[in-house]
Amino acid sequence: MPRKTVAPTLPAISARAAALPASPIRKLVPLADAAKERGCRVYHLNIGQPDIASPEAFLKALGEYPERVVAYGRSDGELALRRAYRTYYGRFGLDLALDDILVTTGGSEALLFAFFTVAGAGEEIIVFEPFYTNYNGFASVVGVTLKPLATDPATGYHLPPREVLENAIGPKTRAIALCNPNNPTGTVYTAEELALVAELALAHDLFVIADEVYREFVYDGLAHLSMLGLPDLASRVVVTDSLSKRFSVCGARVGCLVSRNADVVGAALKLGQARLSPPVIGQYAAAAALELPPSEYVDPMIAAFERRRNVVYEALAQMPGVLAYKPSGAFYMQPEFPVDDAEAFVSWMLTDFELDGATAMLAPGDGFYSTPGRGKQEARIAYVLNEEDLAHAMTCLAEGLRNYPGRTD
Ligand SMILES: Cc1ncc(COP(=O)(O)O)c(C=O)c1O
Repeated sequence: MPRKTVAPTLPAISARAAALPASPIRKLVPLADAAKERGCRVYHLNIGQPDIASPEAFLKALGEYPERVVAYGRSDGELALRRAYRTYYGRFGLDLALDDILVTTGGSEALLFAFFTVAGAGEEIIVFEPFYTNYNGFASVVGVTLKPLATDPATGYHLPPREVLENAIGPKTRAIALCNPNNPTGTVYTAEELALVAELALAHDLFVIADEVYREFVYDGLAHLSMLGLPDLASRVVVTDSLSKRFSVCGARVGCLVSRNADVVGAALKLGQARLSPPVIGQYAAAAALELPPSEYVDPMIAAFERRRNVVYEALAQMPGVLAYKPSGAFYMQPEFPVDDAEAFVSWMLTDFELDGATAMLAPGDGFYSTPGRGKQEARIAYVLNEEDLAHAMTCLAEGLRNYPGRTD
């Protein structure tokens, strides 16, 4: 009997896995790689990876890790780091117990734990558009629906009026998520805005997820206010935090979830037990960084970012047809460009454009929305490079815009 050959088939991946959104920050990386292969220098303004050296104290601690076995650590994080975190928050007048702090594998894991913990499948978390794109991915993983509320560049992307917020709260709403300072808009929210969110959370029995990974990244003499500082809100607040940007240690993967609500921290701990422990060596070195006085590392770094912000904002203001606003925090801005489609423009900059052997890569703006069709003319700029590189990247951008065939004005 001749053997029958059966065409090989593969089982389909799950529908929810297939539905996961690709990261708009990373999805055009193959085009950037191809540009580099051609010998073109690519200024990466698409990703929040600062070019600033990590603190010496962090690097020294990495080299001096004292154990002979790199063993699993505690699921809630190493005690030395949690103590350092408590002291760190104390500097902002935030009095926390050790048990309020759960170390996570970056702020990303803290967000995933927070989304999972405060809302069930099919329930809603209110977010403000445009928002940090990975919220889409986390919501998709845990089956939670993001309810986006538009913010307006004309107001500096500040919160919409109370009625808009109030009308958005429905029976399925479980939380309001506020990223402060904001990625991608750079908005730093006022005490009145925080109070409004707090008041609505109390009135409607909601949690508040406060993504404060850019706490120190505030310019123009403004001050950052933590949601943890609002006394009435105490056990409704879940702060997600990260050392990635604060100490330019993105690859160490160290962050934390902070809440005075023992149920929230308890549930997050169970999730944490499923990944056993956050990175142990990263935590060891991170404790050394957290103990540094701000004047030794964070303050000069923030001053550098304020100058970087100015370089980019002033360059954008000179580009005809570009609608840019001046952000006061984080290290991003998301201007509107006079182009048919920002993703096509960003791709074209990588495939068809070069100025003196270089080009700039941005992140297409629509990935920072969940409302279909929004952000199509926007692209996010992360001003994470030194001033000279940023200035050159802005020249590339201006020249690219002048020559782009899909320009709309
Ligand atoms: C607003 C915001 N939250 C959380 C994160 C997660 O950072 P990480 O996982 O590196 O701590 C980022 C990273 O860019 C971010 O911009």
